Amino acid sequence: MNNILITGATGHLGNSVIETLLKKIPSNQISVITRSEEKRTEFQSKGFNAFLGNYEDKFSLEKAMKGVDTVLLISAGDQGDRMQEHKNVVDVAKKMGVKNIAYTSRCLRDRTTLVNQLMVEHFETEDYIKESGLGYTFFRNILYLDVIPQFIGGKMAIEKGIFQPAGEGKVAFALRNEMGEAMANVLLNEAWDNKTYNFTGDKLYSFYDIATALSELSGNDVKYTDIDEATFTGMMKQRNLPEPVITKILGFITDIKNNQEANVYDDLETCLGHKPTGLKEGLKQLFEL
Ligand SMILES: NC(=O)c1ccc[n+]([C@@H]2O[C@H](COP(=O)([O-])OP(=O)(O)OC[C@H]3O[C@@H](n4cnc5c(N)ncnc54)[C@H](OP(=O)(O)O)[C@@H]3O)[C@@H](O)[C@H]2O)c1
Repeated sequence: MNNILITGATGHLGNSVIETLLKKIPSNQISVITRSEEKRTEFQSKGFNAFLGNYEDKFSLEKAMKGVDTVLLISAGDQGDRMQEHKNVVDVAKKMGVKNIAYTSRCLRDRTTLVNQLMVEHFETEDYIKESGLGYTFFRNILYLDVIPQFIGGKMAIEKGIFQPAGEGKVAFALRNEMGEAMANVLLNEAWDNKTYNFTGDKLYSFYDIATALSELSGNDVKYTDIDEATFTGMMKQRNLPEPVITKILGFITDIKNNQEANVYDDLETCLGHKPTGLKEGLKQLFEL
């Protein structure tokens, strides 16, 4: 590998990609962009080619992509115009003669029936990359196991139980750092054959399973209550969450209820070289139980 640019290098997923890359290649073969000068200096002091860069700023991307043959585009958050930000990265990659682009997409069952429209952007980004003519690798990641504490209200759920309108919907949760490690292994292999990897856990879990795992780990009798949307919305309003945030959370949960994330593939196990961490062990780590 000549030179790879990792975007989102300061984030959780980017960090675990970089940790794995560093086991095989030196930091001077890795370029990174960050929006913070402090973090840029930190990366630079460790030998990385570090640039100030923002998906909104094409000029900053051009500087970072000079001499780069592969770009890992870590999907942006949804605060800005994410689709335009992704397009900027793809357009600049093409202009700067980058050969391959890898993108962190999402493993969802059917793009045409998604309730959470933010997820549709991942598929639209894939389309845009395909149309660009660049070599591509898509990492379709399942919902991070790491977000479960956030979803269920952290440690309070162990005392008070889990209340979600997710029915019996299931998710093949996987740990974020294992998906990052698997992504890095694929990138190191340089098998640029326009492939899509579906990174998921090897089992499906519902919120009932999450409650059971937390009961076993904590010794408390943790219950999952499948509540209706109106009750859930009322609970979110009591927490003073703004309407758009409530709509977004509800979209996520409804897609889970509809089994959009109930997908099991063996790509993660293959690319890691071992079985992915299961729900109970993952929750043990996350809740420090
Ligand atoms: N599969 C899932 O369950 C799941 C869950 C949540 C999110 N995601 C998606 O996966 C991505 C990576 O996850 P993560 O946990 O690593 O997220 P994270 O820790 O929030 O990191 C996001 C990274 O993207 C960078 N970034 C965001 N917008 C940018 C912009 N406009 N220009 C340049 N850099 C930008 C951030 O840089 P700064 O340090 O400069 O902010 C940060 O390094 C998320 O951004 C999101 O799209 C997936």
